[in-house]
Amino acid sequence: MSQNGATALPPGPRMSRAVQTAIWSRQAQWLLRQCRARFGDAFTIRIAYEDTWVMLSDPEAIKQVFTGNPEVLHAGEANRILGPVVGSNSLLLLDEAAHLEQRKLLLPPFHGKRMMRYGELMAEIAGAEIERWPLGDPYRLRPRMQAITLEIILRAVFGVEEGERHDELKRELRSLLDMGTDPRRVIFLLALGPERVRRVGSFRRDIERVDRLIYEEIRDRRRASDLDKREDILSLMLQAKHEDGSPMTDLELRDQLVTLLVAGHETTATALSWAIERLTRHPEKLDRLTDEVRAGEDRYLKAVVIETLRLRPVIVLVARRLTEPMEIGRWSLPAGVTVAPCIYLVHRRPDIYPEPDRFLPERFLEKPPGTYTWIPFGGGVRRCLGGPFAQYEMEVVLRELVSRRRLRPARQRPERVFRRGITETPRHNAEVVLA
Ligand code: HEM
Repeated sequence: MSQNGATALPPGPRMSRAVQTAIWSRQAQWLLRQCRARFGDAFTIRIAYEDTWVMLSDPEAIKQVFTGNPEVLHAGEANRILGPVVGSNSLLLLDEAAHLEQRKLLLPPFHGKRMMRYGELMAEIAGAEIERWPLGDPYRLRPRMQAITLEIILRAVFGVEEGERHDELKRELRSLLDMGTDPRRVIFLLALGPERVRRVGSFRRDIERVDRLIYEEIRDRRRASDLDKREDILSLMLQAKHEDGSPMTDLELRDQLVTLLVAGHETTATALSWAIERLTRHPEKLDRLTDEVRAGEDRYLKAVVIETLRLRPVIVLVARRLTEPMEIGRWSLPAGVTVAPCIYLVHRRPDIYPEPDRFLPERFLEKPPGTYTWIPFGGGVRRCLGGPFAQYEMEVVLRELVSRRRLRPARQRPERVFRRGITETPRHNAEVVLA
C-alpha cells in the first residue's frame, strides 16, 4: 500500500510468466477478455522478454497516460528490439527531447491535409494491382494488400520512380520485412536480443543491401534539380531543418525512411484485409458502400474504415515504461512497470460502443470517434504519425476495389484473429472470390 492507501499494482492472473507468455503469443485477445472480466478495467500481466504490464481500458486512465509527462512515460524503450532494423535515430526508439526533435521534422510532411495529394498516386497503384487479380476462384487478398501498401510507400514516401533501383529496392525490402512476420525468425531474434542480432552475418548482409540502395537514392535526390517541387516525403524531409538550421543527415534520413516502412506497410495492409473480411461477411453493408462510392460519396466509406479499426485493431495495445512512480486512477504504480492503454479492450466497452462485437459502421456516421475511446493509432505525443495517411490510403484502396469488383467470402465461417509478428491478421488472409 502507498501512503494514501492506493495499492501498488492492480491484480492479475496467478499463472507463471511462462504460461502467460504462451497464452499471450497465441491468444492475446482471449487473455485480455478473461482478465478484464475477472479483474476489471486495470490488471497486471507478465510476459517473457517484457516488463510487467499494467493494462488499462478506462478512458480516463488512458487520457492520463496520453497527456502525461513524456519524461516519465517512455515509449521508445519498449521498441528496442526493432533497433537493428530501424536504426538508433528511429522515431520509434527515441524518447524525450531527441524524440520530439525528430518528430517535429516529420510532422509537416505527414500533416492530414497533405495526404490528399497522394490520392491520385494511391488510386493508380491500387487500380493496376486490382486489375491483375483472378476472377471466380478463391484468392487471398492480404499478400496483395501488402504489395499495394509497399508500392505506395516506395512511391509516395521514398519517392522512388519506376526503374531498376525501384525493382531492386522492392525485392530487398520485401525480404527484410518478411523476417518480421516469420514466427521462427522472430523468436530467434527475440532470444538473441538487439545487440547480438546486429552481429549475425546474414542479417547484417540483408541490412547492408537495403542501406546501399537507400543511400544511393538519398544522394541522387539531394542533387535533384526539382527537389523543391517534389511532393514525396523523402524530398520534404530533405528540405526540413533542425532547430539550429542544419539539415537532416543521411543516417537520420535512412533511419526514418526504414521506420516509416516498418510502421506503415504491414499495419495498413492488415487493416485493409480486415475491412474486406468484415464487409464480405455483411453483404448489405458491402452493397451500401458500393452504391455510395459509385455515386461519388465517401461518408459511409470513412465510417467503414473507422469501424474496421475499432473492431479489428491491428495492434492490441501501446506501451509506456514508467521512469518514475505514477498515480493512475486509484493505482500508485512503481517506476519500471509498463503501462499499456489497451486498444482492444477500450474498443469493446459496451458503455461506449453498444453491441461492441458487431460490425456497425453506422455508429460513426453521426458521431466522430473519441480521442481516448478510439485509439487504433495510440495517442499523445507518440500518436501514430501515419494515421491520416493510413486512413486515407484505406479509403482510396477500398474505393478502387468496390467500384471495380464484386466480392464474396471464399469460406463459410468468418476468419479468426491470428497473430503475425505484432499484428493481428485474418486467419486465412482475407480469402474472397472476385467477380
Ligand atoms: C492502419 C495502419 C496503422 C496502424 C493501425 C498504426 C498504428 C500505430 C500505433 C498503435 C503506433 C504507436 C502509437 C503510440 O504509442 O501511442 C504507431 C506509431 C507510429 N506509426 Fe503507425 N500505424 C499505421 C500506419 C502507419 C503508417 C502508414 C505510417 C507511415 C507511413 C506509420 C508511422 C508510424 C510512426 C512513425 C510511428 C511512431 C510515432 C512516434 O513514436 O512518435 N504508421 N502506429
